[in-house]
Amino acid sequence: MEWTRKDLIGIEPLSREEIEAIFTVASGFKRILGRSVKKVPALRGKTIVNLFLEPSTRTKLAFEMAASRLSADVITVNADASSFVKGETLKDTARNICALNADMIVLRHSAPGSAKYLSEIVDVPVINAGDGSHEHPTQALLDNFTMLEHFDSLEGKKVTILGDILFSRVARSNIFSLTKLGAEVTVAGPATLVPKTFESMGVKVVHDLKTALADADVVMLLRIQHERQSSTHFPSLGEYTSMFGINKARAKWLKPEALIMHPGPINRGVEIDSELADSDRSVILEQVTNGIATRMAVLYLCTGGSMSALENSAE
Ligand code: CP
Repeated sequence: MEWTRKDLIGIEPLSREEIEAIFTVASGFKRILGRSVKKVPALRGKTIVNLFLEPSTRTKLAFEMAASRLSADVITVNADASSFVKGETLKDTARNICALNADMIVLRHSAPGSAKYLSEIVDVPVINAGDGSHEHPTQALLDNFTMLEHFDSLEGKKVTILGDILFSRVARSNIFSLTKLGAEVTVAGPATLVPKTFESMGVKVVHDLKTALADADVVMLLRIQHERQSSTHFPSLGEYTSMFGINKARAKWLKPEALIMHPGPINRGVEIDSELADSDRSVILEQVTNGIATRMAVLYLCTGGSMSALENSAE
């Protein structure tokens, strides 16, 4: 299929074919990243602005590396060192970035809907790098790409997403992508953070840890998003850990071959013990590595790159 989208705002509007097209292109880029010269000229002459108005380590670095590996010029704007602190609006900032002739904007923002809003203001492609509790599409793409390096297909695979589902853009994007790819998704955690209403998204809701882990092929742990909660949803972090934290003893409830994933940042000793986070069954750093190739694919496709041109350049 040929990619026709200018922006990547979320996984929800994508078809299964579009998601699989991103994976095909990402696989090509991953092969290139394994060469001694890890760079291709695909976006030479283009300028990408990373507008990161909320803290980030993994996503910001991976987008910077992805742009650099595609030979684009990349400039990152952080909220605390920009005119946002002087009260400039997102709209004015975006219009100034376009006046400087940027070719693409990658936006992280705390407001749900901000990436869509930006895409309606500017003519250049907009990539959502996480908008509040709404979506984090490239995180879901790299998560699912990593799963597909361990399984031939996600059809019928059982994926448990455990933790703060209510406030998690990672959970929402993964629910959209995993269900489109045929996986059976369970969301689990305290009832206050995992309400039954999630069933309307085509997933199973479970409030008992042992049940949630029992037949999972993948367990994806999420951190408690203090920054997005206006009230307390459980008595204390200690109580969360005692009921839903994963440690080596509780990992015995998992199938021996089940993968442990986490989008990061990890709160060690809260949702996961260090022993398990650093164990052989954890693919957390594989997820980080795959963040480059999947984001290269998204940057490439949204700036009009074709799959056939990539195939020729990879030969
Ligand atoms: N997973 C993720 O979005 O991490 P960062 O906040 O560090 O980008």
